Amino acid sequence: MTPRKRIGILTSGGDCPGLNAVIRAVVRSASELGWDVYGFHDGYEGTLEPVSFTILDRRRTSGIMQLGGTILGTTNRGRFVAKSGHGDKSLVDPEIIRQAKENLEQLRISALVCIGGDGSLSTAQQMFEAGIPTVGVPKTIDNDISATATSFGFDSACACVADALDRLHTTARSHRRVMVVETMGRYAGWIALHGGISGGADIILVPEIPFNYEYVIQAVNKRMSSGYRSTMVVVAEGARAQDGEFVIKGEHGAGGEKRLGGIANQVADAIGSKLPWETRTVVLAHLQRGGNPTSQDRILGTRFGAAAVDLIKQGKFGHMVSYQGYQVGSVSIEEAVGQIKRVPPDGQIITAAKNMGIYFGDAPVKVPGQESA
Ligand code: F6P
Repeated sequence: MTPRKRIGILTSGGDCPGLNAVIRAVVRSASELGWDVYGFHDGYEGTLEPVSFTILDRRRTSGIMQLGGTILGTTNRGRFVAKSGHGDKSLVDPEIIRQAKENLEQLRISALVCIGGDGSLSTAQQMFEAGIPTVGVPKTIDNDISATATSFGFDSACACVADALDRLHTTARSHRRVMVVETMGRYAGWIALHGGISGGADIILVPEIPFNYEYVIQAVNKRMSSGYRSTMVVVAEGARAQDGEFVIKGEHGAGGEKRLGGIANQVADAIGSKLPWETRTVVLAHLQRGGNPTSQDRILGTRFGAAAVDLIKQGKFGHMVSYQGYQVGSVSIEEAVGQIKRVPPDGQIITAAKNMGIYFGDAPVKVPGQESA
């Protein structure tokens, strides 16, 4: 009797709502084909000594789709993080890859589903090049993976920002306050932009559009002086002033990169020191990564998981699932990693936002009667 096919699955990098939907869909699709699924713990780390995994089946993955986080655990630290720096391709020590390959072969794992962001997908590519049959599933709340229009986790993160703004609007209005809300997103402004628009932000500061402090202060002043009782400023953690640097919180963050954070305090201090209205800061941080996935992220995660199994069935290793034009397809991982997807500053969504008066801090504030013809 031929032994049942075994595939592995792991979740790597920062966690994200929707990971469990992917795991569940992989297990269900694989079990329909009569395959067994080994779920490695804590990302790639589980493939190294002491090798650590759970054999997953339909029963073990029942009821997990709606849960945030990942039942397998994950890490953006450890032996698979080798080279750091924004924009650098992270290269893992080849000896570590060799050990993982040996362990996977000993377990008779014939394909590995790697769910991760751009750093983790670079590792998947390196494993593929070393002879491990891998397929990738893009995961990010930041929406910064090129080659996929979106990924699960992003919608849930934006929903968190919108919900926070809904709450902050009411208290800010009561007290005539300015609120400066910092979102995640690394070097891309997608969460700030989509979360900010859907939460009714007045000013949105994103990394792709460096801002001018004076202009931001003018914009707040104009709004509050004209009688509004509150102003909501959303600032992405990777936003920076036109003549400024990224605000760094710590040396070692996700994937060995620098940890961004703290820009909201700087923006709030600048506003509060020049204007009479009390200005407060709210840093949403990991609230954006935790909690249950939205229905959109559950569906996307489910579709991605089913598509990953299909890639294995077709023998399309070295490929990752991608989403374009409402269709799930695939691209080679090599093509997909290495460059992040950023908000186009003159794209449709920024233009629409500007046209309706949302301010991005990059141009002087228009004063009625003083606009050029
Ligand atoms: O990439 C996801 C993300 O949440 C970023 O938005 C953020 O900069 C980073 O991870 C935070 O990572 P950590 O949880 O390791 O601090």
